[in-house]
Amino acid sequence: MKKKRLDEIIRVDHAGEHGAIAIYRGQLSVLKLIGDKKTSEIILEMAQGEKAHADEFDRLIDERGTRPTVLMPLWNIAGYTLGIMSAIAGKDSVMACTEAVEDVIDGHYSDQIKELENSGKESNILETIRKFHVEEIEHERIAKNEISENTPTLRAFKRLVKIGCKTAINLSEKI
Ligand SMILES: [Fe+2]
Ligand SMILES: [Fe+2]
Repeated sequence: MKKKRLDEIIRVDHAGEHGAIAIYRGQLSVLKLIGDKKTSEIILEMAQGEKAHADEFDRLIDERGTRPTVLMPLWNIAGYTLGIMSAIAGKDSVMACTEAVEDVIDGHYSDQIKELENSGKESNILETIRKFHVEEIEHERIAKNEISENTPTLRAFKRLVKIGCKTAINLSEKI
């Protein structure tokens, strides 16, 4: 695998994990304000998982000398805004947000795992992504279980979040 491609993988995953933290930060600030402790606890636990993921990609960015995406400030603002908006709309949209994001990330990490397996190189990064992939699928499962009513509006919201996520992924690999 070429350094350029490996840099793309590290760059986009680094951006994504920090984006996830930004979403949860936005959600947690609203949930705290409205006093929804139960939802906060579920979100906080998943946010802690994302913190561990982001820390590992911070380390890889340093170790490999990978340039982070120039879009980091944008993803932080967009993630935080999405977090706030979804939490204002209620618990179901909080959970729908995680379900939609993790569905895209499931596919994204699966693709990277296949690519790294085929390259036969970078077994440490492969193991890291495999581990995170399992944890993201668990987040998706938890969020899906917490949704009380999957309305057409909620489904439309999930489609929108997925499109945003895919766009962010495509941009962050390259720039
Ligand atoms: Fe993550
Ligand atoms: Fe996650």
